[in-house]
Amino acid sequence: MPSEDRLKKLEEMERLAELGGGRERIEAQHKKGKLTARERIAKLVDSGTFIELDKFVTHRALNYEMDKVKPLGDGVVTGYAKINGRLVYIFSHDFTVFGGSLGEAFGRKINKIMDLALKNGAPIIGLCDSGGARIQEGVVALAAYSEIFFRNTLVSGVVPQISAILGPNAGGAVYSPALTDFVVMTKKISNMFITGPDVVKAALGQEVGFEELGGAEVNATKSGVAHFLADDEPQAFTIIRKLLTFLPQNNAESPPRLATGDPPDRVEPSLRKLIPDNPQVPYDMKELIRAVVDNRDYFEVHELWAQNITVGLARLDGYSVGIVANQPTHLTGALDIDSSDKAARFVRFCDCFNIPVVTFVDVPGYMPGIEQEHGGIIRHGAKLLYAYCEATVPKITVIVRKAYGGAYCAMGSKFSRSDINYAWPSAEIAVMGPEGAVNIIFRDKISAAKDRNKERERLIREYREKFANPYEAAARGIIDEVIDPALTRPRLISALQSLTNKSEYRPPRKHGNIPL
Ligand code: HXC
Repeated sequence: MPSEDRLKKLEEMERLAELGGGRERIEAQHKKGKLTARERIAKLVDSGTFIELDKFVTHRALNYEMDKVKPLGDGVVTGYAKINGRLVYIFSHDFTVFGGSLGEAFGRKINKIMDLALKNGAPIIGLCDSGGARIQEGVVALAAYSEIFFRNTLVSGVVPQISAILGPNAGGAVYSPALTDFVVMTKKISNMFITGPDVVKAALGQEVGFEELGGAEVNATKSGVAHFLADDEPQAFTIIRKLLTFLPQNNAESPPRLATGDPPDRVEPSLRKLIPDNPQVPYDMKELIRAVVDNRDYFEVHELWAQNITVGLARLDGYSVGIVANQPTHLTGALDIDSSDKAARFVRFCDCFNIPVVTFVDVPGYMPGIEQEHGGIIRHGAKLLYAYCEATVPKITVIVRKAYGGAYCAMGSKFSRSDINYAWPSAEIAVMGPEGAVNIIFRDKISAAKDRNKERERLIREYREKFANPYEAAARGIIDEVIDPALTRPRLISALQSLTNKSEYRPPRKHGNIPL
């Protein structure tokens, strides 16, 4: 064959592969408000950097006349590219081919990408839009999924894994994203569920729609499966690009330090007035975080789920840090099941990828109640204790106001081996809040008093003076320094700088047994 013809054949094959499931299905994809697999990659990565692999792979299925339809690429676009100039591996489901459903060849392509990412120490990004296991391929489709799940687990904590859910994700398609570090979902158009509305109706007689069952909003606010909720696909890609700026390429590297232009010695006198005089009055913890971090840029994770705690990424003097902070505006900042899970997972993520953890504490305790106890607050709350104790990255804690009981221990206390522990003068560190404490230890004294209310008030005042301050803790070295709130930023930065070469020993073991 003349070389010109050979090139023509290649061009023709490329053209066919790029058509995926054909023009009609591409149009249908656009009509639904979705981009195609390749359009998505082009919008996500640095212009012109995507190199596609396995473009001509086809399936080998024979059932249900599958041998008559063999689209090139088999419904998933895979390869590598650069984002912000750094290497990433990508797979992008092509919904126009068998609804993005996963069969043997499709799975192999994804596995190849994951193996390359592991060998080369670079993040993996999955753009998901899939009907789940390809029904016509039977057990090999299940095997293909299982191989992906194995790799998701193998690379967990070695390279960052990010999933964007940009359409339906049914059945097996949800478990791979669930095993990754972060899930981004697009509003109104994406969903994730194990069993769809038809099965729910057949099995339980419950009537529910796609959106209500597993839409982006539900997963971002109720289940916590989604870490980020994007208005549309371009916003989902912006979120991924920004997220990557905070992360190292792999667990052997430190996250990149970027010049932010925000002076490290910047003082913030406004923080002296942040805490209301009345300890029962809430304030917005995110105000504190924004005032302290570089350029007020706080990249919140899980913003809409378990809002009584806030977690996210930011920079301090250009260093990437993970922030964990109680949020008094929601449930008084108490720790419950979901907030414990949320913070524990985030602390563990930071620890995997060498991101120091900065904790701001204002917590009245673990949430009481039948619902919480029966839901397993003991088990879930223990996860947070475990995560902080396990983490060996630099840990810096600032007690801003309340730090009571087990929640004090959990939130990056000295005893979880936090490196530097600051407190503001407004800090209250005790076994429990004054009201509850005097009711228990002075029950007899109060009931014997002539004026019980007056006596109770007096005892509360006394308790508050004794415990509701940082100085008992400072006297025992449990707090390293009581600081002027205005100096929080410079103190955090100097602590961070002093801890850049930190190394901490943990006994060798196969793995710990976090209470899941
Ligand atoms: C094969 C599939 C498919 C699948 C969709 N298609 N899902 N083909 N296997 N799992 C095909 C359709 O036949 C159709 O082909 C094309 O994809 C587009 O699908 P539509 O239904 O027309 O699109 P839409 O109306 O947008 O609905 C999308 C959808 C729906 C919500 C995803 O297709 C759906 O409910 N699919 C089944 C989802 C499901 O139950 N999956 C679970 C599989 S079991 P044509 O030729 O008409 O274009 C599983 C367990 C694995 O995953 C466990 C692993 C551990």
